[in-house]
Amino acid sequence: MNVAVIGATGNAGRPIARLLLDDPSVEVNACARSEAALADLESTIGPSPGMLRTTVADVARSDDMLRVFGSADLVVGATSRSQHGMTLAELAVETGVSYLGLYLSEPAKWDRLRTLHTRCVERGVMVVDDGGWHPGVPAAMVRAAAEHGALSEAWVGASFGLRWDEIGVASETIDDFLTELEATDPSVWVEGGWVRGFRHARHFDFGVGEEPVSCIPMCLEEMRELAGSGTLDSTGFFMAGFGPALDYAVLPLSMGVAKVKRSWGAGLLWWGLRHFGSSDDIGVLVLDGRRAESGEAVRMRVWHADAYALTAIPAVATIRQMWSNPRPGVWTQASFVDPGHFFEQLREMGVNVEA
Ligand SMILES: NC(=O)c1ccc[n+]([C@@H]2O[C@H](COP(=O)([O-])OP(=O)(O)OC[C@H]3O[C@@H](n4cnc5c(N)ncnc54)[C@H](OP(=O)(O)O)[C@@H]3O)[C@@H](O)[C@H]2O)c1
Repeated sequence: MNVAVIGATGNAGRPIARLLLDDPSVEVNACARSEAALADLESTIGPSPGMLRTTVADVARSDDMLRVFGSADLVVGATSRSQHGMTLAELAVETGVSYLGLYLSEPAKWDRLRTLHTRCVERGVMVVDDGGWHPGVPAAMVRAAAEHGALSEAWVGASFGLRWDEIGVASETIDDFLTELEATDPSVWVEGGWVRGFRHARHFDFGVGEEPVSCIPMCLEEMRELAGSGTLDSTGFFMAGFGPALDYAVLPLSMGVAKVKRSWGAGLLWWGLRHFGSSDDIGVLVLDGRRAESGEAVRMRVWHADAYALTAIPAVATIRQMWSNPRPGVWTQASFVDPGHFFEQLREMGVNVEA
């Protein structure tokens, strides 16, 4: 099995490559634009049962991409730009090679991706996007909990901390992060209808600090799918903030400055994250739900002490399900995976799953 990881030298791509290499039947083709970063990856990734090779390749160069897809059984897109997701998905259909993307959950992207579904089914290709942990895991938690009895209500909150001053992130990734903040759709599904607005914020007890944390609604495609499935009266996804200095000063200012000059806004956001962002490294997801029949409360908590490991592990679990249980078509990660098995895989790879 040859898996090409495009963006393999990045914060998400590197642990994905590392985990894939635990399987002796896997050859990872690590791809990125910088030859130096690929050489560093090769010298630091450590010995592994699988085989690693590297390729200098740029998503913007179609020759590079055709070469990468031509030698792959599956391609992972973990580059900094969410626009790459569509390019890679179209290449997947064209070349007949299945694909998993870790890109932002955007309605416009999903409108375009869904037009590929019929061709994917005809060609036996899987195009899975919204991979990682958020998007990627929240709706899978709801689906896993619902396997033990239908839910009437399911709210999922996420909180993460990164040692921003210790990690290097490409300027394009920060720009994409700014886009995610600007494009936040604060919609939630309440009693069978959509409501919209930051006033629908909810508190979640992440089991980290002493107090429950107020989180803002952030609609993801996987939650839209759940809302439309007819099994839940109310559902939504919510994100914790970064602390008062970032939430009330740096973030709004960055968005304002970005309207004048994009790179200044992204630069200000990066400066703010490094100066006022968390100093803890952790990723936590909490599901607060209710059983339809009994009204019994349901809680599930999924966490890892390394937010990027929590990005990589669900992606690798999905890749393993893509080859053990192929289902051609266009999918969100959360709707593609078998949820029960998915959380078993996450546990095996070191994620704390408390249900
Ligand atoms: N769903 C989730 O839970 C989740 C969580 C975290 C991140 N993400 C997503 O994952 C992606 C990566 O994030 P990150 O934090 O790992 O970013 P990062 O650390 O900045 O890494 C970006 C990687 O992409 C490569 N790259 C950038 N442009 C490229 C191009 N044109 N062609 C080929 N390679 C290119 C970079 O290497 P070169 O510069 O050398 O090319 C690097 O390897 C982002 O889209 C982010 O939104 C998703």
